[in-house]
Amino acid sequence: MRYLQLPAATYREHRARLRQHMEKGGLAIFHSNDIMPTSADGTMPFKQAADIFYLSGIDQEETILLLFPDAFDPKDREILFVRETSPTIAIWEGAKLTQAEAGELSGIANVQWTGNYEAVIKRLVPQCGLLYLNSNEHLRQANEVETREERKNKELLARYPLHSVKRIAPAMHRIRSRKTQQELEQIKRAIAITGKAFERVLRFIKPGVKEYELEAEITHEFLRNGSRGHAYTPILGSGYNACVLHYITNDGTCKDGEVVLMDFGCEYGGYASDLTRSIPVNGKFTPRQRDVYNAVLHVQKEATKLLLPGVVLADYHRQVGAIMEEQLIKLGLLDQKAVAAQDPEKPLYKKYFMHGTSHFLGLDVHDVGLWHEPITEGMVFTVEPGIYIPEENLGIRIENNIVVTKDGQMDLFADIPREVDQIEALMAERAKVMA
Ligand code: GLY
Ligand code: MN
Ligand code: MN
Repeated sequence: MRYLQLPAATYREHRARLRQHMEKGGLAIFHSNDIMPTSADGTMPFKQAADIFYLSGIDQEETILLLFPDAFDPKDREILFVRETSPTIAIWEGAKLTQAEAGELSGIANVQWTGNYEAVIKRLVPQCGLLYLNSNEHLRQANEVETREERKNKELLARYPLHSVKRIAPAMHRIRSRKTQQELEQIKRAIAITGKAFERVLRFIKPGVKEYELEAEITHEFLRNGSRGHAYTPILGSGYNACVLHYITNDGTCKDGEVVLMDFGCEYGGYASDLTRSIPVNGKFTPRQRDVYNAVLHVQKEATKLLLPGVVLADYHRQVGAIMEEQLIKLGLLDQKAVAAQDPEKPLYKKYFMHGTSHFLGLDVHDVGLWHEPITEGMVFTVEPGIYIPEENLGIRIENNIVVTKDGQMDLFADIPREVDQIEALMAERAKVMA
């Protein structure tokens, strides 16, 4: 395995947390993702479903997890199913987990082959009073493709139409939003690699390089450090391209005098990091670029201080909007009187800053979380204000990842440079080495 696996104790703790949210007699079922087809006999790389990974640590297709805390036989209280391996599979696809390995990784004693799943369901579903089924309830999910979990849920509901059924997703969002110490360690490992990739780009960038060359440098640094790659499709946009929020073609040229916006983060052991830095292609910001950069940095620092236990994210976003407004007035982009007279439902700052400031981060880059409840200690967020001025071919975003503590927050990016002088000094050092 290329990454450091979290200990089985972590997954035991995650399952214990979930059990606290299950009613008596409930049986919860979690499935893996499918391996998605491309065309002909091609497939995409396997990406495990976050919930079963969170509860078991098993990063392999066709894995199923049953949790039945009140089962009559203690052996039925946690059952893990893994794909049966064979000499043929070993030759063509490589080693798959043995039952003993899967048991050791997950801390689950009863591990069976996936082929046994139907028989176990037939035996246990009549014994349970309530089925807990999982579903993708992410606020922004918009996927038309049916998942393996949805397919299996449909089959089960057709077979047992008289059973009571409840959603397990709300409990998963709750427990996943508050990270354990071990999860934080894994996120920090992802961030450390992302930081190395940023330093590599600082040394590499110069006028004339292509955006995809930056992407190649970043990917190289990720892979050589044990990451499987990007946690999301990276954005490398120079000049005007930085104003296209979901720019992912990355095929433009980084030109002298432009600022390049780089939004990338490595995945490590299933966990995401999410960084944005905006740096001058030639190593030196113009006075205007510096002013806009420092305005974004000010908003980022002030926003970070607001992420405290007890705060509600909607209020936080409103407050950040007001801080951004002040900066846009100072930059001459908004008029003070117009702002005073604006419709609060349509604040003027959205012309230059049209996305949210923070989202949950974890196994998913836009992680599940409790958007409508007060923030609590252990939640991990991004802080990513930006100012986009297409008419000046300038887009600047700065994005850090933080964890909320008992009475403040810890900046997980504290070691990754973001001050103008720091960035310019590092780029000047590179220029000296290259000269
Ligand atoms: N990289 C995606 C985001 O910043 O939300
Ligand atoms: Mn990002
Ligand atoms: Mn982000």
